[in-house]
Amino acid sequence: MNTLENIASAFRDKFSSQPLLVQGCGRINIIGEHTDYNEGFVLPASINKYIYFAIAENGTNECHFHALDINDSYQFSLDNIKKSDKGWANYLMGILDQLQQEDILLEGVDVVFGGDLPIGSGMSSSAALEAGFALGICSLFNLQKSRQELAQLAHRSSNNFLGIPSGIMDQFASLLGQRGQAIKLDCRSLQYEYVQLDLKDYELLLINTGVSHALANSAYKDRVRECREGAEAVAQKFEGIQSLRDVSLEQLEACREDLTAVVYQRCRYVIEENERLHQALHLLTNGEMEALGELLLRTHEGLSKAYEVSCRELDFLVELAKGHEGVAGARMMGGGFGGCTLNLVKKSAKEDFLKYVKKEYYRAFSIQAEHYELEIVDGTDIVRG
Ligand code: GLA
Repeated sequence: MNTLENIASAFRDKFSSQPLLVQGCGRINIIGEHTDYNEGFVLPASINKYIYFAIAENGTNECHFHALDINDSYQFSLDNIKKSDKGWANYLMGILDQLQQEDILLEGVDVVFGGDLPIGSGMSSSAALEAGFALGICSLFNLQKSRQELAQLAHRSSNNFLGIPSGIMDQFASLLGQRGQAIKLDCRSLQYEYVQLDLKDYELLLINTGVSHALANSAYKDRVRECREGAEAVAQKFEGIQSLRDVSLEQLEACREDLTAVVYQRCRYVIEENERLHQALHLLTNGEMEALGELLLRTHEGLSKAYEVSCRELDFLVELAKGHEGVAGARMMGGGFGGCTLNLVKKSAKEDFLKYVKKEYYRAFSIQAEHYELEIVDGTDIVRG
């Protein structure tokens, strides 16, 4: 775990220039999981878990990256940006690659980064990396880009440079988050509005399974493909269908014969999840926390049984939450196959719940589950000029 001060001081030890400091935010998502790449709706918020950057231009054509958390370095020339076998470096190089695609010429940069945002935990450390670096580079070189444009650029980098067919939720949430608010984002038009996260007597807690299964990447790609396949089949019968966003449950039923059982259940989950998101907004506005918790449980059920992106550890944590009277609901969060559960817990029951969950989880998996108390904060930003 590194702090902003550690990062700044490691930079000064390695390089002689005065760096720009940036903090890239992680995110949570209240509801609307695996809907973004189907042009649906999501409800994320940026959180107080960060990747910190110290960045300075170096007047050469070379870039030097140092990942302090893992004490690893990578160096390359701007004339030769290509995917490397260092996964972490690719997230940063992808941003530079996208800028080059726009014919934006840059000088080399020296970068040290690290933070307190655990990797593979479902809080999107990858988006924090992309967003923080993109904002830092833009500020350093005075590029006139809005936060939304930066989110789109980072998203293109994920899709095109890294080859991950993800949606735009994570980058958007990291760059456009605001204190105390969730973002209701339409992933097709990118229209968004802020929604006050007033949870009454409840709070959100993350519990980390501590596992990150290797399946995640290939299964994610499979889900994207299955959803496209479903939307294309429905489009054969009905007009105006570009993605699952446009498909109603009735239309899906009418095409059931044309779909494999697996594609049908994936599509059904996505359509229902978009509906749940709209219900959740209504419940949030009315302060109906118990009912909101129920929706989270239904989302988990869908992700686990129909979408099949959960795992034993996540299901176990959600079952524990379900059985505790101080918890309104819980679900796995993010891409799946590990990472955290999101729990809507009564403030007064928090200590008891955590003690119970940690004991039972350890008993079942011999893993000490970590938990994170969340603050919803302003998104990725420059810390000091
Ligand atoms: C990952 C992806 C997002 C989104 C979620 C699932 O975090 O990066 O685009 O698809 O999974 O909701």
